[in-house]
Amino acid sequence: MIHSLARVADLWISRHAALDRSALAAVSGLAPAVVVTGASRGIGLALAQRFAARGPAVVLIARGEASLGAAAKALSDATGVRTVPLALDITSADAPHLIEAALREAGLYADVLVNNAGVGLAGPFAEQAIADIERLLALNITAATRLMHHMLPPMLARGRGGVLNVGSLGGLVPGPHQAVYYASKAYLISLTEAVAYEARGRGVRIAAVAPGPVDTAFHRAMQAERALYRSLVPAMSAEAVARSAYRGFLLGRTVIVPGVLPSLAQLAVKVLPHAVSVPLVGALLAVEKRAPERDAL
Ligand SMILES: NC(=O)c1ccc[n+]([C@@H]2O[C@H](COP(=O)([O-])OP(=O)(O)OC[C@H]3O[C@@H](n4cnc5c(N)ncnc54)[C@H](OP(=O)(O)O)[C@@H]3O)[C@@H](O)[C@H]2O)c1
Repeated sequence: MIHSLARVADLWISRHAALDRSALAAVSGLAPAVVVTGASRGIGLALAQRFAARGPAVVLIARGEASLGAAAKALSDATGVRTVPLALDITSADAPHLIEAALREAGLYADVLVNNAGVGLAGPFAEQAIADIERLLALNITAATRLMHHMLPPMLARGRGGVLNVGSLGGLVPGPHQAVYYASKAYLISLTEAVAYEARGRGVRIAAVAPGPVDTAFHRAMQAERALYRSLVPAMSAEAVARSAYRGFLLGRTVIVPGVLPSLAQLAVKVLPHAVSVPLVGALLAVEKRAPERDAL
């Protein structure tokens, strides 16, 4: 049903969008692919699985070669879809060109970009190492912006394709104790909404998914497992988030919030003043300090 609606929308748009014939010629002989960053596990892998069900080739990107290769093989074994693993740190300045070159070599072009790779950072801002903050900004903001900026113009010229940015519910409200992470996701959601408006009517879907907590390795990696939200707020599965994100993307929604509870939270942060929502979020995100261990007697 959703696929039929999406196909009708695609047909209508491709009839009405002003297409650039040379852009179409530039990819003649190449097959469309969905490029997913951070696809070796978690939400990225679940999104790669969803898009694979649609048929085109999937290019999976992450740094860890072994886990990436295993994920790509499992995905092609399960779906019969062609998968191309690309081991790459997307924060490197030449990542967009390296991805494009790898796609061409594989006889593919980027039809859809899923900008998913991201990291979190917990703790009070003033106590965080600047190197950790810069690492987060390089991945969550700079790399995502660079990839979108590189891949969007040819999509617009072809009058098809899309970009799905993985934001966070945290991008809708300031987040004390995860201040830089929340701010980075606010940037990504704001960028998505603005660029989606600029590109309206041109045949390209531009969306951000803003999930609440998801059951992945993410929270452990940023040492937030002891924060209140981990015990109070139920985490969704990566698969459920991917299902909702994929459906919303096909239906042309701009900001997709998966799940009932996160949708209620989205409503709450829209109506509550920051004087209320910021302390509330701060209490949920605070990581209690461990009592210093006593010296063994
Ligand atoms: N989990 C949540 O509760 C949650 C909620 C809302 C939004 N999100 C967002 O969802 C996205 C995915 O999160 P997740 O929970 O699935 O995280 P995850 O399980 O930690 O997976 C992160 C993925 O990104 C890859 N990656 C990390 N740094 C990279 C780099 N520099 N270059 C290329 N790939 C890189 C990782 O593989 P390698 O380490 O091998 O590179 C891995 O495949 C993030 O943007 C996150 O902010 C997560």
